[in-house]
Parts: sequence; C-alpha cells; structure tokens
Amino acid sequence: MTSRQAERLLADTPAIADAHFRAEAEPYDPVSRPGGYLNLGTAENRLLWDLVGERLKGLGEFTEAAARYAPLHGTEVLRERIAALLSATFRGPLAAGEVVVISGATGALDALATVLCDPGETIVVPAPYYGAFDTDLAGRSGARLWPAPLPAAAGFRLTAGAVDRALTEAKRAGAVVRAVALSSPSNPMGEVTGPGTLAELLDVVRAHDVDLISDEIYAHAVFGPRAFTSALDPAVNREWAERTHVVWGFAKDFALPGWKAGVLCSHAPRVLAAARALAYFAPVSTVTQDLLAALLADPDWVRGFLAEGRRRLAEGWAHAAGQLDAHGIPYVPAEAGFSTWVDLRRWLPDPEAAHGPAGFAAEERLWRELLDAARVNILPGAVFHSPQPGWFRLCHTVGAPLVAEAVRRLAALPHAAAEREQPTTRIGDRP
Ligand SMILES: Cc1ncc(COP(=O)(O)O)c(C=O)c1O
Repeated sequence: MTSRQAERLLADTPAIADAHFRAEAEPYDPVSRPGGYLNLGTAENRLLWDLVGERLKGLGEFTEAAARYAPLHGTEVLRERIAALLSATFRGPLAAGEVVVISGATGALDALATVLCDPGETIVVPAPYYGAFDTDLAGRSGARLWPAPLPAAAGFRLTAGAVDRALTEAKRAGAVVRAVALSSPSNPMGEVTGPGTLAELLDVVRAHDVDLISDEIYAHAVFGPRAFTSALDPAVNREWAERTHVVWGFAKDFALPGWKAGVLCSHAPRVLAAARALAYFAPVSTVTQDLLAALLADPDWVRGFLAEGRRRLAEGWAHAAGQLDAHGIPYVPAEAGFSTWVDLRRWLPDPEAAHGPAGFAAEERLWRELLDAARVNILPGAVFHSPQPGWFRLCHTVGAPLVAEAVRRLAALPHAAAEREQPTTRIGDRP
C-alpha cells in the first residue's frame, strides 16, 4: 500500500520522460542515423561544453577532504563565491549566510514550498509555466498550484493584473494562498520580466500578503535587448525583500544540469534556517561543491564565460527564429532562456477543436505524430498549463544543424506543408 503522498508523485506525466529517453536512445546523426530522433524537448544547453570542459580540466582533486562530510547546505567557500556572483546579478548585497546550496533548483523549489506552505495551501503561478513546478512545488510539500492564465493574444506576457485576478479568485474560492511562484526569465516563453512589471507584481503580492518565489535559473541566459532584473534587486524591491525568495542553480547558466547543484537565496532568517534543515535531505556532494567553488574562483573567467554564453544563445536563437520564419511557423520572440514558444495551432488535426475542450486532446495527438512520424521531440503546451492548446516548446540550444533538421521535418508534415504558403506571424512582438 502506498501513501497518498506517493500517489501525488505518481501523478506525474511519464509520457514526457519516455519521449526524452526514446529520443536520446536513438539520436539523429546526419551520417550514421539520418532517420534518428531530434530531442528539442529538454532544456539543456549543449552549446558550452567546450568552454566548461576545458575549464574543469585539472580543477578536481580527489582529496580526503573532498571524500568527507561538509556542511550539507553548502561549504562556506562555495556559498561565499555564489553570494559574490549573485550580489552583482541582483545589484544588491547577498551574504554567504543568505545562500543555501541544495540538490538542484528542483530541491530549492521543493524546500521553499515546504517552508512556506502547509499541505493543502496554495501557490499561484502565472501560466504557461515550467511544467515541473507541479512536482517541484506541490509533489512533496502538499501545496496546490493555482494557475494565473496569461492571455495568448498578448503573447502570454506576464502582467501583475493576471496574477492579482488569480489571487483574488483563489481566495474567493476558499484557498489559503501563501505564495506566488514564477520563473523569471520565463520558461517556456523566454520572456525577461522588466523592472516595471516586477515592481507591479511586488505591489500585488504585498497587497495580498503572500511571499514571492522567483526562479531565476536563467538569470545569466539573457540575450535580448532587455537586461535581467532580479526580484531581489533593491531598485524594484524595497519593501518585500524579506518575503521574496530566489532560486538559482548551475544547470542552465553553467550548462551543468547533471551536477544537480541548486541555490536558494533569501533575506528571511527563518526561511533560511528551515531550508538549511531541509538541505540535509538533498545535499550536493562535497566533491561537486569543491569543483563548483573552483569554477567560480576566477571572477574574470566567470564574466567572460557568461558573456560568451549569452553570445552563443543569441546566435542560436536567431538561427532558430530564422528557420521558423523560413518555414512559416509562428512563435513568440524569445529574449532569454533555451526555448521558443511555437504556435502550431493551425496544424491541429481538428482545427475546429482548437478553441474547445477537445483542443488539448488534439494537441496531444499532434505531439505523438511529431514524435512518431517526424521523430522530433518538442513538448506540448499542456505540459506548461498553456491557457490555449496548440503551442509547443522548442529548445534551440542543441546546435544549429539539429535545429535546422528539426524545423525542416516539422514543416514537412502534410498539414504543415498545406499551410506553407501562409505568411509568418510574430505573436506578441515585444517592445
Ligand atoms: C525554470 C526551471 N527551474 C528549475 C529547473 C530544474 O533545475 P535543476 O536541474 O537544477 O533541478 C529547470 C530545468 O529545466 C527550469 O527550467
């Protein structure tokens, strides 16, 4: 007999994981496996290993100290170096004592939800949102997520008004709301949250007396014209800093997803103390912490590396956008992150259903067709709680040849070919 807690975790979407591993098991290769899978469904940055790998060479030492227990919420030296990096990113002071190192941003989100919510309490999340929030924020903590739908007509852009409305509705329905959570920059849309929107959002969470969880794992992956602003930037957050908690990690900005090194930052002493207690259950190994501390030891290298990372992301996204344009596939322009939010509504097998309740079933059928016939894995909008069916997240950080081949295959699907003559629309072009 399994517990109700276990049942919550088992409610995850295994089909998505299956698609990932199926695609990874038989990957496309222009020479040896031209009919292989193209996995553009997973947000990994595969553009940086030459730089990271080179830097890591010679950094690791298998010393006795690295084999022993270290502080489970992060060694002093690693937390100091993370705090120095993020103080510059946040444009405000962050002390080593305000940093908790934990197993992945996933672990940081799980810890924050547990620290802020009792089982059954609610976190409001602007949607579309990073699909794993369902598991990370709710799977173990017992919190419930309440989506705040962002209008498709405005390119799914974040507005404080949409969050305000969802908070009001959730409370009216009897929910005990403890927090608002968002990824900023956003996954899947790749939107940078501007300082004005952030200030408005902070006014809303303050008016509703709830905490803000800002997942800033893509903080250094901004390649558009608008600069990143953290929710902990003192220029936008003077009055709610103790109720604002930021998640970051090495998975995206440093292209080390398999290292599972996440970071929780807060100015709230009790939140930090509780998060340190939870890090006991999900620490990062001492040897990994040592390597990360060594990676951050040279601020000049870090600055140069992050700048080159942004340059490669910009180049990769421009190439992906060019391919989509060339094949007449609409999308929301991205300014950050690893993904593009692509509009395949016109290709739903039953376009009539696109606006009705059957739309998501049609979207799932299209997803399976893309996977089985085109052998392209991109994730359907339902995974991200898209308010409208027919949208897919395409991760463009797998290298230009793979992106070009994937878009070519998408466009070669029969219903896509029939639409090819239509002009490309750019949805919700950002200012
Ligand atoms: C917004 C966001 N948060 C968290 C994570 C998970 O990070 P980690 O691998 O460090 O647990 C991801 C990974 O895709 C993400 O996109």
